[in-house]
Amino acid sequence: MTTIVVNGARREIQASDDTPLLYVLRNDLHLTGPQFGCGMMQCGACSVLLEGKEIRSCVTPVSAAVGKEVTTLEGLPARWAKQKNLSPADAASALHPVQQAWIEEQTPLCGFCQNGMMIKATELLEHTTAPSVAEIKAAFTTSGPSAHLCRCGSYTAIIEAVQRAATVMAKAS
Ligand code: FES
Ligand code: FES
Repeated sequence: MTTIVVNGARREIQASDDTPLLYVLRNDLHLTGPQFGCGMMQCGACSVLLEGKEIRSCVTPVSAAVGKEVTTLEGLPARWAKQKNLSPADAASALHPVQQAWIEEQTPLCGFCQNGMMIKATELLEHTTAPSVAEIKAAFTTSGPSAHLCRCGSYTAIIEAVQRAATVMAKAS
């Protein structure tokens, strides 16, 4: 039995130490935000936050998450509510500003890559409140083990959504 903390809740799972975290999240915990794209750390579709840092869950063994906090796309609203001390009523109805911006900019096309894009945007904006376009591009291309890939070509909309989310998050700080 392994215990990990996912989206603020302790979860007990039956998995060998080398099971990819992605498999545990999707198959055991039914958190289907993270996607299986390449399975080789080459696309970013499987991204989650581990202690606030974006990682590729397809190649991260579940043992690496023990004793640390995992946040998936599903956990972003609660993460934001906790950071901002929102009341329970507000927290229940609030999306994370990144998610809200993605909706308002109509960013997704097929949507498959967008989990990783929103996770990466959240990581970026938690550390850089007003990123330049160059900083946004760098976050999605050279900051991690590989670029975040979108086969539909939504890159321009992603930059605009990050800028929109940055504005909202700066006002709330
Ligand atoms: S599925 Fe993990 S990086 Fe592609
Ligand atoms: S929206 Fe289709 S792969 Fe990115």
